Amino acid sequence: MKISVAGTGYVGLVTAVCLAEKGNIVTCLDIDMGKIALMQKGFSPIFEPKLEELMQKNRDNIVYTSDYIMAYRDADVIIIGVGTPEKKDGSANLKYVFEVAKQIAETVERDCIVIVKSTVPVGTNDKVEQIIKENRKCKVNIEVVSNPEFLSQGTAVQDTLNATRIVLGVESQKAESILKQMYSQFEIPFVITDRRSAEMIKYAANDFLALKISYINEMANLCEIVGANIEDVAKGMGMDPRIGDRFLNAGIGYGGSCFPKDTKALHWLASFNDYELKTVKAAIEVNENQKIKLIKKSKKYFDSFKGLNIAVLGLTFKPGTDDLRDAPSLVNIPLLIEDGANVKAWDPVGMDNFRKIYPDEIKYCNSIEETLIDTDICFIFTEWPEIKNFKLEKFTRLMKNPLVLDGRNCYSLDEAEKRGLIYESIGRRKVFN
Ligand code: UDX
Repeated sequence: MKISVAGTGYVGLVTAVCLAEKGNIVTCLDIDMGKIALMQKGFSPIFEPKLEELMQKNRDNIVYTSDYIMAYRDADVIIIGVGTPEKKDGSANLKYVFEVAKQIAETVERDCIVIVKSTVPVGTNDKVEQIIKENRKCKVNIEVVSNPEFLSQGTAVQDTLNATRIVLGVESQKAESILKQMYSQFEIPFVITDRRSAEMIKYAANDFLALKISYINEMANLCEIVGANIEDVAKGMGMDPRIGDRFLNAGIGYGGSCFPKDTKALHWLASFNDYELKTVKAAIEVNENQKIKLIKKSKKYFDSFKGLNIAVLGLTFKPGTDDLRDAPSLVNIPLLIEDGANVKAWDPVGMDNFRKIYPDEIKYCNSIEETLIDTDICFIFTEWPEIKNFKLEKFTRLMKNPLVLDGRNCYSLDEAEKRGLIYESIGRRKVFN
């Protein structure tokens, strides 16, 4: 089966490489020639564990090109994996998806299946089909299938090879059997449905997870007020299989390329159809407030950050990625700078990307130790293992004033107290004094 993948971001490239790993011949297409040149040399343009290793292992099964005619003309399956960034009004920008659809229509010379893998609002697959029909140059039969992905950054390869389900939104038996054949080497259960339901599954799943996080964050806030411990509360909740123990880590809110965008997009879609999605709206609001929770907590100690030396540990939206999209650091650091703080930061992989946005406004450090020296406050925004395993006595030794505001509950309250830290985290209290 000849498969082509349009877009080499997280979704496109990881899908392509995993399909190649399962024995398919795959062509990866991207308009960015720099990215193509890099991938042709065997390097990944994104930071993702195991990806580069698999790209090199499967180099005989993958072709990288920016020539869409070559990629589409005689493909059996074309996967659209381009971005659907957020527009100002919260809706998804479908420009790139539609451009690819038009190019496919103008290029293909034989029957094929077009898979929409990008996260798209309900009804987009129908529009893709319409665009293809209107722009088709040859009399060929092109079927459009919705096949959303559920990969997480940092574990994308593993999530794709061992996915919990493969959702296929199909409108014909023929499309269903071709797609089942494409995935025949993956031992993963299928959910077969119509296209609109498949599109909806992706948003409903992501928004539910976002809601779960906002819910636990609100519970954490209430725990702080009433004197309970969110970690024990989450444990007690999560042991009920109807709730499940994952995605119950309280913190300073969710970021990343999906939850913030997909909650707003679904809320927008509902409003556009005169329906108010109240739960999702609440999850968005809670998340926005949660992101500045540590700054609010710090007011107990300092009225203003003017002239204070501040250490920031962790810049990315979560560990295991260099991605900064919607990361709490991007909300908090500008507030600290505006207020006149001297900010020093460290992140194992996120500093190059942060430097592109803030080249000179903060100092980038080579180690956690260097970041902490002579500081008045330390903010922790990402729970990188290097940060979690950092010896607590070093905070006391290196900081001018050992006030640690931890947005990811990295340390035990007992340990922090023993080491002489003034330590604030999210939703926790000591069980025994
Ligand atoms: C998410 C979905 O998990 C994935 O299925 C979808 O395809 C894309 O969006 P991703 O954004 O890579 O994946 O990261 P994820 O691990 O889900 O974390 C998202 C955010 O939620 C991070 O900022 C993380 O810190 C936060 N989070 C997650 C919490 O605050 N608490 C939790 O318990 C879990």
